[in-house]
Amino acid sequence: MTTFKTLGQADVGGKRVLVRADLNVPVKDGHVTDATRIERLAPTITDLLLRGAKVIVLSHFDRPKGKRVPEMSLRPIVPALAKAIGHDVVFADDCIGPAAEAVVASLKPGQCALLENLRYHAGEEANDKDFTKALAALGDIYVNDAFSAAHRAHASTEGLAHLLPAYAGRQMQAELEALTAALEQPQKPVIAIVGGSKISSKLDVLNNLVRKVDFLVIGGGMANTFLNAQGIDIGKSLCERDLADTAREILATARESGCEVLLPTDVVCATALKEGVEIHERPVDMVPEDMMILDVGPDTVQLLRDRIDACKTLLWNGPLGAFEIKPFHKATFEIAKHVAKVSKAGALVSVAGGGDTVAALNAAGVADDLTYVSTAGGAFLEWMEGKELPGVAALSAA
Ligand code: 3PG
Repeated sequence: MTTFKTLGQADVGGKRVLVRADLNVPVKDGHVTDATRIERLAPTITDLLLRGAKVIVLSHFDRPKGKRVPEMSLRPIVPALAKAIGHDVVFADDCIGPAAEAVVASLKPGQCALLENLRYHAGEEANDKDFTKALAALGDIYVNDAFSAAHRAHASTEGLAHLLPAYAGRQMQAELEALTAALEQPQKPVIAIVGGSKISSKLDVLNNLVRKVDFLVIGGGMANTFLNAQGIDIGKSLCERDLADTAREILATARESGCEVLLPTDVVCATALKEGVEIHERPVDMVPEDMMILDVGPDTVQLLRDRIDACKTLLWNGPLGAFEIKPFHKATFEIAKHVAKVSKAGALVSVAGGGDTVAALNAAGVADDLTYVSTAGGAFLEWMEGKELPGVAALSAA
């Protein structure tokens, strides 16, 4: 288990606390369209403010690559941040130098500032020593509450932890505890669901999971690559035919590790991926040659429910079908609702993450009913790959 110091252990009264947040949130026409990440950050900031800290929030936004790109300013985030913490937020036009120093110097205990996009400076992504020192000069204590950026070894996610007393924020702590409970020290049996369109983007995830979990469900377009590798005719379905050997190797590793891989036994197919198209439910080995697989079928859903009921821990990344287009949402929604029900009843620890997965859980109306839903994308995937995240490692070393 990763060890790190938590916010409660920090003496913050009157101190300048640099909080690394992830305010890389969706914005349209200058307004935040999904404030989930900001809302998850709020408890860390309000806790610090109540304890008399001077809070200085640091974040990146988008990928300006070391230049000032006005469309990538953090300024439009100020109202949403102020609303989430129920407190005014002063904005500084730069994250280092005179503009940042003046705003930080003006803060009184219990006040909060947000500094401009860290990635306007190339030193952030380069984890440059001088840039990190300039950031560190603005604070007395460093709190990292940005798990979703912890896979980046940047100045504000990694470097700062070596220059200032470093603590995990409340969101970071919750995320690490949930992830540890799901994969590192889980209650067994463990079932993982991995979906999405391509196995090429999730090879490391699959290779890691088959060594760790008891059941691995493969859904979405990536299941087709496995079915094809087993000699099953999948018609016009999306498939990475060049990865057939890789898919067979993953299945062999699973067998050696005692992991049962669950592929669809029946599927929903159609001639096109569009709403209102005529659909056909077929056993997996009877897909018509002019059709494509777009969801798993009802027998598979029943099989998955039974396996989930037999497990104590579930990890989920990626939808089972093309859930954005009805009726190919059905299996993903049914399994999401079942996972939510069993989790709410206290019989399952369920952890889900990744952009598509969170969108599917939200659309199914159950995102709040799982044990933990991560807002991280790349960081969640790298963690599922079994990699050490630099931002987490730096907190542990601190
Ligand atoms: C994210 O949105 O996943 C994080 O903010 C990381 O962003 P990045 O991929 O630009 O580093």
